Amino acid sequence: MSETRRTTPTTTAPPTQPAGADFILRAHDVYKTYRMGRVDVPVLKGASIDVKQGEWIAVLGASGCGKSTLLHLLGDLDQSDPGKGEIFFEGEPINRRTRSQRNLYRNRTVGFVFQFYHLLPELNVLENTFIPALVGLTRFSYYAKRQEIHRRAEELLQSFGLGDRLKHRPQELSGGERQRVAIARALMNQPRVLLADEPTGNLDENTGGEILDLLAEQHRAGLTIVMVTHDRSIAGRADRIVELSQGRVVTID
Ligand SMILES: Nc1ncnc2c1ncn2[C@@H]1O[C@H](COP(=O)(O)OP(=O)(O)O)[C@@H](O)[C@H]1O
Ligand SMILES: [Mg+2]
Repeated sequence: MSETRRTTPTTTAPPTQPAGADFILRAHDVYKTYRMGRVDVPVLKGASIDVKQGEWIAVLGASGCGKSTLLHLLGDLDQSDPGKGEIFFEGEPINRRTRSQRNLYRNRTVGFVFQFYHLLPELNVLENTFIPALVGLTRFSYYAKRQEIHRRAEELLQSFGLGDRLKHRPQELSGGERQRVAIARALMNQPRVLLADEPTGNLDENTGGEILDLLAEQHRAGLTIVMVTHDRSIAGRADRIVELSQGRVVTID
């Protein structure tokens, strides 16, 4: 079969939100270079991506091409030298916000799912899930909201088929179960966008498929998802695939 795919650079629109555009999240002409000792390692070289409200977009790219770097910038997880370019959420550049607004963005606006789950081993499943809801609470306000917080976490876990695992520790769970807990944690504060970094990368095909089904269900319920992966068949579950190559995002059509 002949290769008919064509790659073109994505939009180079000015770094402001076009009037009426329904982009919820956008990276505009982002550069990122890591410094290794005395050597500069340029990773992103003018990457731009526009994420529409309610879409599921997959960023496909080879290992080491900068997918996690881009996702961390979108989620404002990278606190080091920002490099050039801007990340906009609903038209507002996130790096011009105050420190507390940025903390709120990380805690409330986006939810993050990682390949290796990043659950805390000393906490049980329920506690791991509700951690994001504790951020910024005083002891007093925690006690006032405790029941509500526990109920939300429990409902999420039950809907993910983990109702009988609430008191288990992460090491007592399978990989697929751990990732379901990690997704529940990411959804705890009802984020506007879910950022998923190779969410099935550590799972066998069937289990990975179940995790993608779960993401699809959230997407049908209206969640915007940005997922990065090196696997074309996994990317195929999204509404739209873009490719990260040589530090830039290119559309595939
Ligand atoms: N903190 C860091 N310091 C130095 N180099 C890094 C750092 N993080 C990532 N890199 C390098 O940047 C490149 C892109 O990394 P990454 O974004 O993790 O790629 P991907 O997620 O696509 O596998 C790789 O060459 C990696 O070694
Ligand atoms: Mg990565």
